[in-house]
Amino acid sequence: MKSITVTVNGVAHGPSAVRDDLSMNDFLREYLGVTGVKFGCGVGQCLSCAIIVDNADGASETSPTCIVPAASFDGKAIRTVEGHAKGGELSALQRAFINHFAFQCGYCTAGFLNEAQVLLERLARTPIARADLERTIAEALDGHLCRCTGYVKYHEAVRDVVLADSALYLRKGSP
Ligand code: FES
Ligand code: FES
Repeated sequence: MKSITVTVNGVAHGPSAVRDDLSMNDFLREYLGVTGVKFGCGVGQCLSCAIIVDNADGASETSPTCIVPAASFDGKAIRTVEGHAKGGELSALQRAFINHFAFQCGYCTAGFLNEAQVLLERLARTPIARADLERTIAEALDGHLCRCTGYVKYHEAVRDVVLADSALYLRKGSP
């Protein structure tokens, strides 16, 4: 057993006693009731279970939760799909996903949303050339599986959000 404290969407939880082999997915869903985190393949292959980890240096990254022990998140701050809307307002990405009818069953959506949010935060820190945008989006979303095959619509939704705020995400004067 280990005692862990994790900040989820800005709220500290714990200390909680967890088994060493308890997955982060089970911790979030069963201990904290954060059911927006999905469980798909369970073996690190689909990323429907991906969450955002906020690192101490200010950068963010995604992590699967099905194959990672909850104990390894002790002291960390994470975000889930429940944390994207603010004050009852959907985020720009959430609105774009809806506008593009990007999802059908929605099982993969939280993972795509978290990955796209991490991409936006990376581009805000380090803008890219417009010419690199399509490849950059494709590489960021690669690895997320959608059984309803909404890949193109997810891609288009993310592109829309970037282009709507191009001064923030794209290098000025770049082709
Ligand atoms: S459920 Fe975690 S990668 Fe598929
Ligand atoms: S919308 Fe159904 S799995 Fe992606």
